[in-house]
Amino acid sequence: MGERQAGDPPLYFDFHVFVCVNRRPDGHPKGSCAARGSERLRDYMKVRAKELGVGRARVNGAQCLDRCELGPCVVVYPEGVWYRVENETDVDEVLRAHLLEGGRVPRLMLPGRGGLGRPGALHLDPAGDKSSDPI
Ligand code: FES
Repeated sequence: MGERQAGDPPLYFDFHVFVCVNRRPDGHPKGSCAARGSERLRDYMKVRAKELGVGRARVNGAQCLDRCELGPCVVVYPEGVWYRVENETDVDEVLRAHLLEGGRVPRLMLPGRGGLGRPGALHLDPAGDKSSDPI
């Protein structure tokens, strides 16, 4: 993973949160995050981030993040920590614990490549994670 280097400009945002809002047709075998409610959760996260006074953070909708079977998927940078958020309570917990307090939400974290993750992280079948077809 790339490291920041001396001379790089300061981070423009303290956090950049990408929420997958990709939608596939009903019945598609991979499913999609939008079909699981991610558009509503993205909108809620944008509002709640402001309400909670999260500092320089940007919440963006994203197209497919290629972890479809594990969604609704959210990834927080600069740490590159992935979460599955299924409802407003999950969104609030990620905003509070990760963005405001600098911690993590192990119960919502997706495993890293190869299935490695923190104890308590979601342990889902990562088979779909290897897809080369993000569409
Ligand atoms: S549809 Fe959301 S990760 Fe692919």
